[in-house]
Amino acid sequence: MSYYFSNDENVKTNKKDHQVNIAGLSFIFTTDNGVFSKKGLDFGTRTLLETLPEYINGEILDFGCGYGAIGIFLKKKYQCEIDMVDINKRSLALAVKNASKNNVEVNIFESNIYENVKKEYDFIITNPPIRVGKEILYKILMGAYEHLKDKGELWLVVHKDQGAKTVLKNLNQKYEAKIITKNKGFYVICARKR
Ligand SMILES: C[S@@+](CC[C@H](N)C(=O)[O-])C[C@H]1O[C@@H](n2cnc3c(N)ncnc32)[C@H](O)[C@@H]1O
Repeated sequence: MSYYFSNDENVKTNKKDHQVNIAGLSFIFTTDNGVFSKKGLDFGTRTLLETLPEYINGEILDFGCGYGAIGIFLKKKYQCEIDMVDINKRSLALAVKNASKNNVEVNIFESNIYENVKKEYDFIITNPPIRVGKEILYKILMGAYEHLKDKGELWLVVHKDQGAKTVLKNLNQKYEAKIITKNKGFYVICARKR
């Protein structure tokens, strides 16, 4: 079984272009087999992006960038500097191409969890990988704390069927976390560094 994060180079390529509007801005994203949401913008990701507040700015990390929707949207909409990381090489290559196609300058690099992430950010924004299992998921969510500036915020989207309520409860052991919106089972959560 090949998962979208598994770097399986045997997965046959089948690139497709998608014209996408998010919060009144227009984008073109190329996706491919072997990356998350190859059929276009994921509904959870859309819900997250359309929920983000106006005060987003500064230095931002798009964790698990996939083909690049989050970081590219953020760079177009907000005054910010964007780093984007993923473990999946095909996703990273698409993110680089998509950034260029959408005329944004962002910094994209490979990282397994936070291995190559050296900075602290004002915001970390993610549609986190759930299928990687709890151990890695919580390394990502709890590890974000060390990569946030004081009062920095982790924004994420999780579906209720994927344990959104438990995620919220666990985040509150470290952060001040709350649900900002719910849409068709997707919970957008903001977790603020204490
Ligand atoms: C749910 S997808 C979201 C992709 C993209 N941000 C979007 O919204 O379309 C999660 C992403 O996390 C990446 N990922 C999984 N495990 C990872 C790890 N250990 N380190 C970094 N990224 C990882 C996957 O390759 C995938 O692209």
